[in-house]
Amino acid sequence: METGKSLAHDSAEIQVTGAALYTDDIVANAGELVVGFVGSPVAHGLLKRIELSNLYRIHGFVGAFTWQDIPGANLFGPMIADEPFLVKDFCEYVGQPIVVLAAENASSLRKARLQVQIEVEEKTPWLTISQALKQNSFAGTPREIKRGDFEGAWRKADHQIEGVFYSNGQEQFYLESQAVIAHLGEGNEILIQASTQNPTELQEVVAHMLGIGFNEVVCTCRRMGGAFGGKETQAALPALMASLVTKKTGRSARIAYDKDTDMHVTGKRHPFRSEYQAAVDKAGNLLGLKVELHSNGGAYTDLSLAIMERALLHVDNAYFIPNISLRGQVCKTHLPPNTAFRGFGGPQGMAVIENLMEDIAAKLRRDPYEIRSQNCYGNSPRDLTPYGQRVESRLPQILNKLHESSDYETRLEKIRQLNETSLTHLRGISLTPMKFGISFTATFLNQANALINILKDGSVQVSTGGTEMGQGLTVKIRQIVAEELGVPSEQVKYMTTSTEKNHNTSPTAASAGTDLNGMAAANACQAIRSRLAQFAAEIFADTQVGLSKSLEAIEFSEGKVWDRRCPEKQLTFGELALQAYRNRVNLGERGFYRTPGVGFNQSTGKGSPFHYYTTGACVAEVEIDRFTGQWMLERADLLLDIGHSINPGIDRGQIVGGFVQGLGWVSMEELRYQEDGKLLSYSPTSYKIPNVGDLPIDLRIELYEDPAPNGSIRKSKAVGEPPPNAFTCRIYSSQTSAWTSFTWQSSSLGNSSDL
Ligand code: MTE
Ligand code: HPA
Ligand code: MOS
Repeated sequence: METGKSLAHDSAEIQVTGAALYTDDIVANAGELVVGFVGSPVAHGLLKRIELSNLYRIHGFVGAFTWQDIPGANLFGPMIADEPFLVKDFCEYVGQPIVVLAAENASSLRKARLQVQIEVEEKTPWLTISQALKQNSFAGTPREIKRGDFEGAWRKADHQIEGVFYSNGQEQFYLESQAVIAHLGEGNEILIQASTQNPTELQEVVAHMLGIGFNEVVCTCRRMGGAFGGKETQAALPALMASLVTKKTGRSARIAYDKDTDMHVTGKRHPFRSEYQAAVDKAGNLLGLKVELHSNGGAYTDLSLAIMERALLHVDNAYFIPNISLRGQVCKTHLPPNTAFRGFGGPQGMAVIENLMEDIAAKLRRDPYEIRSQNCYGNSPRDLTPYGQRVESRLPQILNKLHESSDYETRLEKIRQLNETSLTHLRGISLTPMKFGISFTATFLNQANALINILKDGSVQVSTGGTEMGQGLTVKIRQIVAEELGVPSEQVKYMTTSTEKNHNTSPTAASAGTDLNGMAAANACQAIRSRLAQFAAEIFADTQVGLSKSLEAIEFSEGKVWDRRCPEKQLTFGELALQAYRNRVNLGERGFYRTPGVGFNQSTGKGSPFHYYTTGACVAEVEIDRFTGQWMLERADLLLDIGHSINPGIDRGQIVGGFVQGLGWVSMEELRYQEDGKLLSYSPTSYKIPNVGDLPIDLRIELYEDPAPNGSIRKSKAVGEPPPNAFTCRIYSSQTSAWTSFTWQSSSLGNSSDL
């Protein structure tokens, strides 16, 4: 079996030696130009004048381009084409590209940048959700999900709990900034090499901008140095810039943002403001919930509507709520368009109800764990989400198991004692469940195609639309292909992702990269394998007297092929491939996959948008210094049901990485803007992500052994996004002798901030 093995990440060695090629490592073509841009000096203003005359004196300056130079469309966007490539009249965020510059080298480009004069009439920007609400500034229309009678439940409730919960933004902080190289071929042909989760989208936006057919543009991606959602749509601007320059000059053109520019101008995780009302009975059962969510979408729609949709679909997290009324609306502000970030709105939705669980426990003076576990999804009819999808999971078992294995009760008692006696420190512990829906909520995106080539030496090439960003997609797909063909994984190579080999691909996102592309690749392998089995059966029957032709008897394993009835006669997979070729058997195949059974009606807010759920839970224990406020995550226990993992080593890496990324969001990362909309925290010196010292002192990760059944590839479950779920912690306060329950007081989550 090739799946189930912890093979090393495909780039592990070459990343360590530095041999791995990222976009900006690709050797420059002769005559290649360096591309940059000058952006809006203000968050909101009217563009009055662009003065470029000084540029032409600069040695090595090649060209400057504005919206007037765009041959085709100036507007683009993944859901609504409302984002200008280059500003024509209104500047809507600081740094928004106005002029694209091309130069022979970086130093000429730097000089050119300083000589561009831009005049704007500055207007008052609105940056926060509350400012946008005052302006009635929205993107798209509100979305709703409803079930039962919230108002009735509210009136009859023993306890009515209300509040406002805020979660702030987060920078993706991929280590490789946005980078694209464009080359002009014959006529209109454009080749772009990009750091992107979405080569097909770049193909399309570049074609639109140049006014040419999609078939003229090829986009490739070898790998990304991290993406975390930040390259699902936002590689578009650099791709447009490089493509415009190559088209105008006929020369290859390269743009690679520096870190500061990248942080200034690209979109981030959406801040959310959620007003909630909860109806709770004496026993702590959540009978009704109403939440009004607003997100800060930034200046253009980008993916904001889909992210709001996923937030709405995750407000329930792991809890059955009979009467519910959810409404979400995206605010338009003068920040860079906010975009995908690991979890895609899910964590923002889940954080609201996890905070509420703490509220309920505080009000009832109960342990939040009990409130969480009694409200957890269970057997029918308590397994139905507000949108009508059944939750098939082992959530209650996972909670129980983790409650036991983490020694929750004993530790709780110890913490209680410590908090009553320690004058210097406080501790808190929490157990939070997590349920994350797997599939794109836009049903049409749940498709993939794959190309398999078997070569005459028996080596195999697999190409899909899936892109590698560090998550280990390529090694997992190699394992799947190897297993289907009965060859070792080393015999399979994952080829550079290209729109020329795979058409109309979906972004590698929604954690579904391996599910979709792996299944398409497996389908292609099955078709080739049955042709090869047919051919092998003929060979074995021909060479072995008395052996009838039997497809079922043909075995493919460990790079060998034989007939089970006479196992001493074996061919290597390479020998079989060569003979098959000579006999004109087709050794290539395309596979296709569409996720079965998914569908969601946006207008009714009902359906089954997800193929399945990935679930899990986390126990976190934190110590806080009463005097300095310094805190430490002492121990974290995570238990996840990720089915039969295709590569447990890679998946553990995803769990640790995702968890630490979530930890950064709720505890230390903080985006700060000036009043005029300039980002202050735009580099590692002013924006603090977790480092190795911030990892829990004791981190325990377990995979749930009895996975819930599912129809995904090799019965695995997606792991990419689920782990960074918000987690909360509470402290037993000896002063008040009462449970003070609070969301982990942090820069990014809580009841007191506004962005
Ligand atoms: N892991 C690494 N190392 N780097 C990344 O950029 N992106 C995450 C997750 N894990 C990311 C990552 C996000 S946002 C998603 S949607 C998934 O990987 C995408 O890949 P998959 O669908 O193959 O899991
Ligand atoms: N998740 C992630 N990315 C997406 C989605 C989604 O549901 N829809 C469109 N892009
Ligand atoms: Mo991931 S946020 O779906 O790219």
